[in-house]
Amino acid sequence: MKIIKYGNPLLRKKSKKVDELTDDIKGLIIKMEDTMHEASGAGLAAPQVGILKRVFLTEIAGETKKVINPIILKKSDEDDTKEEGCLSIPGIYSKVKRPLEIKVKYLDETGKEIEEILNGMDARAFLHEFDHLEGVLFVDKVSRLRKKLISKKLKKLARNTKNELKRL
Ligand code: CO
Repeated sequence: MKIIKYGNPLLRKKSKKVDELTDDIKGLIIKMEDTMHEASGAGLAAPQVGILKRVFLTEIAGETKKVINPIILKKSDEDDTKEEGCLSIPGIYSKVKRPLEIKVKYLDETGKEIEEILNGMDARAFLHEFDHLEGVLFVDKVSRLRKKLISKKLKKLARNTKNELKRL
């Protein structure tokens, strides 16, 4: 699948809940997993392949998590700041502050309800991908100074994306 890039308005839309685990959704998850692996990503959300459904994958330490209709139940007061990137925002990496630990609930790819506590990189990846379902990108969450420093690159990326969309 093609990964859409910064500047594509679909990345700013809110995704819809999955009502039923149909073959279409199962197929989407398989295709997204291939796409994520091909791009060597640590995560991929359905809106990044142009599908506005509440589905995402994370891949941390070789373990793939498939997540449907996620809910964040709890966030720790303690924060953690680490560098992030995004397959939809190539070439830009910035530090982002996020809760160190979260409690989450979601359905896995078989429809089983999972409730678990995630911390460190697992929590960070989950929150990054969850943001995609809300139309939020990691560059929205960087410090004001950092935002200034990357604004030129972001504008250029958005311009390229818009030109590409025009050609289609
Ligand atoms: Co991302």
